[in-house]
Amino acid sequence: MSERSSDSISQAPTATVDPMQDPLIRGDWHAVARRQDLETTPQPVPIRLLEEDLLLWNAEGEWCCWADRCVHRGTALSLGTVKESTLICPYHGWVFDAQGRCIHIPAHPEQTPPRRACIPTYAVQERYGLIWVCLTEPQQQIPPFPEWGDPSFRPLSSRGYRVRACGTRAIENFLDVSHFPFVHEGILGDPAHAGIPDYPVQITPEGVLAENVQVYQPDPYGTGVGERVSYTYRALRPLTAYLRKDSAEQCVAILLTVTPHSEQESTLWMLMAMNYAHDTPAQELLDWQEAIVLQDIPILESQRPVQLPLDPQQELHLASDQSAIVYRRWLKALGLRFGVLP
Ligand code: FES
Ligand code: CO
Repeated sequence: MSERSSDSISQAPTATVDPMQDPLIRGDWHAVARRQDLETTPQPVPIRLLEEDLLLWNAEGEWCCWADRCVHRGTALSLGTVKESTLICPYHGWVFDAQGRCIHIPAHPEQTPPRRACIPTYAVQERYGLIWVCLTEPQQQIPPFPEWGDPSFRPLSSRGYRVRACGTRAIENFLDVSHFPFVHEGILGDPAHAGIPDYPVQITPEGVLAENVQVYQPDPYGTGVGERVSYTYRALRPLTAYLRKDSAEQCVAILLTVTPHSEQESTLWMLMAMNYAHDTPAQELLDWQEAIVLQDIPILESQRPVQLPLDPQQELHLASDQSAIVYRRWLKALGLRFGVLP
C-alpha cells in the first residue's frame, strides 16, 4: 500500500497512476448487462468498461466478453453476426470461435488462419440475473448477496440506470441516510424528523459495516404509521454496497453495484430481495424503487468534484456521515486510485 508523498516540490511532478489501470478495480467483477435484457437479441452487445470498448455475446449458452476490435482492420466486432457458436466480423467475414480464435478467412478459404488472429477475451459470469465481467485475473468472487437465493425472498432486478457521475459518489449516496428527508421526502424520510442518532461503523475483512442506522420513515410498513427503522449497510467493494432493513417480520435487502464506464459515467444496477409483499406485482415494486433512484440521480450528477475526495480536510463531515467517513477511510487504506481524489 503506497501513500503518495507530497514533499517533492523541487522534483518533477510525480507521474499519476491512470485511474483506469487501478488493479483493485480491474481485478474486480463488474455487472455489464441484465440477462433478461439480452434474451431478445442474439446479436453482440457493445459495452464500455473503464474506458475500454468490449462486446458481449452468447455462444450457444456460453457468455463471451471480448475486446470490441477485429485484429484484421480494427472494425467493431459488435457490428458482426453471431452464427451458432461463432462470431463473424462485419468487414471481411473472418469467423471467430468462442475462445476468440479466428478459424476461417473467406478470402483465403484454404489457408489456416494465422495464430495471431486472436481477439483478447475477458472473464465473464452470470449471477443474480446479471452478466459480470472482470478485466484481469479475478482477485475475488462476485460480491455476496445471500438473500437472492433464499426461497423466502423474492428477487427483483432493476434496469440499469446510466448516470453522468462517478461510481464512488453513487456508493456513498447509497450509504447516506441523512438525505432521505430531503431527496426522498414522503417516501423514505420526513423533514420534521430529520435527526440521525449516532451509529457504529467499522472496517471488517469484508469491507465497511454500519449497523443500526436509524431513520424516521413516514410509512415504512404500509400501515399509515410513521416510525424509526433500522438499516444495516455494507460497502463490500469500492463499487458495490449492500443494505438490509429488518423489522419483526419484514426484511428487504438491496445490492447496488456500479459499472464504471469511466470516472464520469456509470451505470447503477439495483438488486432487491424481499421476504414480504409477494402478492404485489413486481413492476409496482420496481417502479417504487425507480422513483427513489430517479430522485438521487440529479444530486449525483451535480456533485463536484466528480471524484470522491479522500482527504478528510476536504468537504465537511458530521456524525451522521459516519458511514461515508469510514467508506472514504477504507478506500484510502486500500490505496484506491479510481474514482477518488487522494
Ligand atoms: Fe474484421 Fe477484416 S476487419 S475481418
Ligand atoms: Co437516495
